[in-house]
Amino acid sequence: MKQLENKVALVTGGSRGMGAAIVKRLAAQGATVAFTYVKSAEKAQQMVADLALSGHTALAIEADSASHIAVTAAVEQVATTYGRIDILVNNAGIYFRKPLADHSAADYDLMMDVNVKAVFMASLATIPHMPTGGRMISIGSNLAGRVVGTGATLYAMSKSALIGFTKGMARELGPKGITVNLVQPGPTNTDMNPDSGEHAAALKGFMALGHYGNVEDIAGLVTFLAGKEGGFITGTELTIDGGFNT
Ligand SMILES: NC(=O)c1ccc[n+]([C@@H]2O[C@H](COP(=O)([O-])OP(=O)(O)OC[C@H]3O[C@@H](n4cnc5c(N)ncnc54)[C@H](OP(=O)(O)O)[C@@H]3O)[C@@H](O)[C@H]2O)c1
Repeated sequence: MKQLENKVALVTGGSRGMGAAIVKRLAAQGATVAFTYVKSAEKAQQMVADLALSGHTALAIEADSASHIAVTAAVEQVATTYGRIDILVNNAGIYFRKPLADHSAADYDLMMDVNVKAVFMASLATIPHMPTGGRMISIGSNLAGRVVGTGATLYAMSKSALIGFTKGMARELGPKGITVNLVQPGPTNTDMNPDSGEHAAALKGFMALGHYGNVEDIAGLVTFLAGKEGGFITGTELTIDGGFNT
């Protein structure tokens, strides 16, 4: 029997990048997986079709994490469709960098709405539908622990908020037998941060291993946390960055 057989998972931002790899990996372990997307409708539908061909059940839901109402509605749709949510992966996130002086209140609102508020609201909405043994996993960033250049202050601030959130939620949900953890990737080859991008060479210079991670590295850790063997890990941030923050 696969380790996530009979489990229901919701992954935010599952149409591309790490989220897509997490969706596929959870499905491969037997979970029924719902995921949200915004812009990549075609990729989302293709993934549902591909997973169906290999015998897996998946559901794509259009839900912009910039709207807490849309995120909450997505959670409710999954709970209504499948009866519960065993695994929540708060993956959807945005990144932009620019000089601090150019930042506006609108920049702040967008970054915090997607990277922080959506995580909080999705998690709150999930609690009533998550049984004992449930797993909440959020994707933060190694930049919460080390910022090596300028321009990423707002992003780092948004991701560091998830550390306190994770610790508090682990205390809140521990008595219910639910674990809450934060995965903090370093440079990982996706559309957001291609390993041939403008800053890639400089970033590799900070990494003990000297190369980017790939989406499978992150999906593997998330799947481990979601599975039985991850059951005694809670309230912690797991940095997976090729030694960037070392
Ligand atoms: N790549 C890195 O080096 C790196 C390092 C540290 C942390 N992270 C974090 O890892 C997570 C995944 O990043 P990634 O590199 O896979 O990014 P990506 O390649 O840009 O993919 C982002 C995914 O999130 C979805 N998404 C974006 N904005 C959304 C919104 N407002 N509502 C719902 N979904 C949304 C996208 O869906 P659509 O295309 O459908 O809009 C896409 O599926 C993010 O939280 C990011 O901050 C990434």
